[in-house]
Amino acid sequence: MKNTMVKRRSLGQTDLTICPLGLGTWQFSKGTGMVGKFWGALDDALTEEIIKTSLDGGINWFDTAEVYGGGESEKILAKALDNIGVTQEEARIATKWWPMFRTSSSINKTIHTRKEALRNRPIDLYQIHQPYSYSSVDKQIRAMIELVKAGHINQVGISNFNVADMVNSHGILSENGLTLASNQVKYSLLDRRIEKNGILQSAKDLGISIIAYSPLEQGLLTGKFHDNPALIHDAKGPRRFQSKFKEAGLAKSKPLITLLDSIGEKYNVSASQVALNWTIHYHGETIFAIPGATKVHHAQDNVGALTFKLDDSELEEISRTSWKVLEKK
Ligand SMILES: NC(=O)c1ccc[n+]([C@@H]2O[C@H](COP(=O)([O-])OP(=O)(O)OC[C@H]3O[C@@H](n4cnc5c(N)ncnc54)[C@H](OP(=O)(O)O)[C@@H]3O)[C@@H](O)[C@H]2O)c1
Repeated sequence: MKNTMVKRRSLGQTDLTICPLGLGTWQFSKGTGMVGKFWGALDDALTEEIIKTSLDGGINWFDTAEVYGGGESEKILAKALDNIGVTQEEARIATKWWPMFRTSSSINKTIHTRKEALRNRPIDLYQIHQPYSYSSVDKQIRAMIELVKAGHINQVGISNFNVADMVNSHGILSENGLTLASNQVKYSLLDRRIEKNGILQSAKDLGISIIAYSPLEQGLLTGKFHDNPALIHDAKGPRRFQSKFKEAGLAKSKPLITLLDSIGEKYNVSASQVALNWTIHYHGETIFAIPGATKVHHAQDNVGALTFKLDDSELEEISRTSWKVLEKK
């Protein structure tokens, strides 16, 4: 049964109202392309079930990108949405232009390929995946403005931009009567750099939303690797080489997982649901999160984060424990 109770929020200062959680779809890259090999290939039926479970749980938007399998993620997403039979309003789409080894002219040149991959579903949010192209950020943003004016996209977002580039992007869009909807950056209870490098404060000051990617620290905050450290050996991609997934790294983050579990018991929810709930509430309405999923039960678990709300003292206690873990040598 569909969860229709989930409260929507405006993304930045736009009229795009979406759920605080979206579904990240890097996992739908079919194991191909520049970054797609990070995850194993998922079959179409499973992908569709993950998308349907997310929609039923109240999610109304999906984050994809050109670079996720060279368009494979966009294609499977749009095909699944068509098969499920949801309208454009029920399933908003955020995708991204890939800047590396390109100039800003590629923004206009490739937009028709993006639209085709998405079966002409509207691009509600078009993001610059990261700031590094052969063209300046100024030129990239101006090319995005042209796409809005031509009616190809609805809102402009950025990703992995530092404070200076974010503020600059916001300024150029504002001069042109538009607004910067969001900056998509890495953020979780185990990665809080944006709280120290000025990105979060500037975003709050300027009314720009933050879209938190890797909000579960690529599965770490679920506690499943703490429960079964051998699990990491089966993981595709580079996670198994990262120290945070090894014995000492797991021991370091364990106190946070223990706290998430114990708070979760009160609400009858999982550690990952507590982690996601913290992420979308600790900073008021500024932060949206886009957990990815490779199994239907992941999607089911993640939408469960929308069914309760941590109280202020719990939000603070989780924050304190997270800082202790992050500051531990
Ligand atoms: N803009 C950017 O540069 C950028 C960079 C990275 C990601 N992203 C976006 O952010 C999305 C999410 O980030 P992410 O995929 O890096 O990390 P994430 O959402 O923190 O972790 C996703 C992974 O965690 C595990 N997982 C998720 N929910 C679970 C649950 N309830 N129980 C157990 N395990 C669970 C799964 O791992 P297993 O598959 O191993 O089970 C899943 O593939 C991506 O899909 C993508 O859309 C954007």
